[in-house]
Amino acid sequence: MKRIFLEEIPSTNDYAKARRNEKQDLLVVAKKQTGGRGTKGRSFSSQEGGVYLSRLQFYENFPAKDAFRIMQSAAAAVCETLSSFGLIPKIKWPNDVYVNGKKICGILIENTFSGGFVASSVVGIGLNVSNDLPDELSPIATSVYKETGKKISVDEVIQRLLRVWEKKTIHESYAQYLGWLGEEVSLVLGERTAKATLLSVDGEGGLWARVNGEEKRFVAAEVTLRVTEKTEEEK
Ligand code: BTN
Repeated sequence: MKRIFLEEIPSTNDYAKARRNEKQDLLVVAKKQTGGRGTKGRSFSSQEGGVYLSRLQFYENFPAKDAFRIMQSAAAAVCETLSSFGLIPKIKWPNDVYVNGKKICGILIENTFSGGFVASSVVGIGLNVSNDLPDELSPIATSVYKETGKKISVDEVIQRLLRVWEKKTIHESYAQYLGWLGEEVSLVLGERTAKATLLSVDGEGGLWARVNGEEKRFVAAEVTLRVTEKTEEEK
């Protein structure tokens, strides 16, 4: 895998996507992004001191029905990396990682498909390490520095992340890190919000939840999961 390190770029995902035509696996790392992108058209704050990387990978014979494995591997690799620094990460389905009730990492995956197979993927990971977070994010976002009080180098985090991401079975740990199982959450479906109890996530990435006594399956494109951390009194 070719590695490219950049000082500043609008978005490492966009950079990796623009080089898809070269048909070569690629890792793009930037010190900061000026146009970091999140899921559902949101932006991703990307000031210096965080991990902003994208991995472009090409596949042969990778059935599209198994595409969720790409997310499982990336999210589980982030969680194992954070655990190695003594943190207790939780995955908020499908693509966010939380620590102590606040978001520490977001993952944006952009795949291409060909005839029922995944042809390539760009996996973008944005992980708050010791980067400043804008004031408006401080109630909902956190960083490795905020949680540990230690200034850990971005390079060290990237090295650990790449090491665990290589493990063949890393995707299997996704379920272990999945948060809020059995707990009450909100599911936002367009204009409507429903109270639900989280049950599981299946191999194709569908979320199973109990809503009004009925077990239902939801897909990430149609629904947003909202979680509220329990206060100390509620625990
Ligand atoms: C989300 O929280 O919705 C996903 C955020 C993904 C951010 C990463 S940072 C590296 C890569 N480049 C981008 O523009 N986005 C991803």
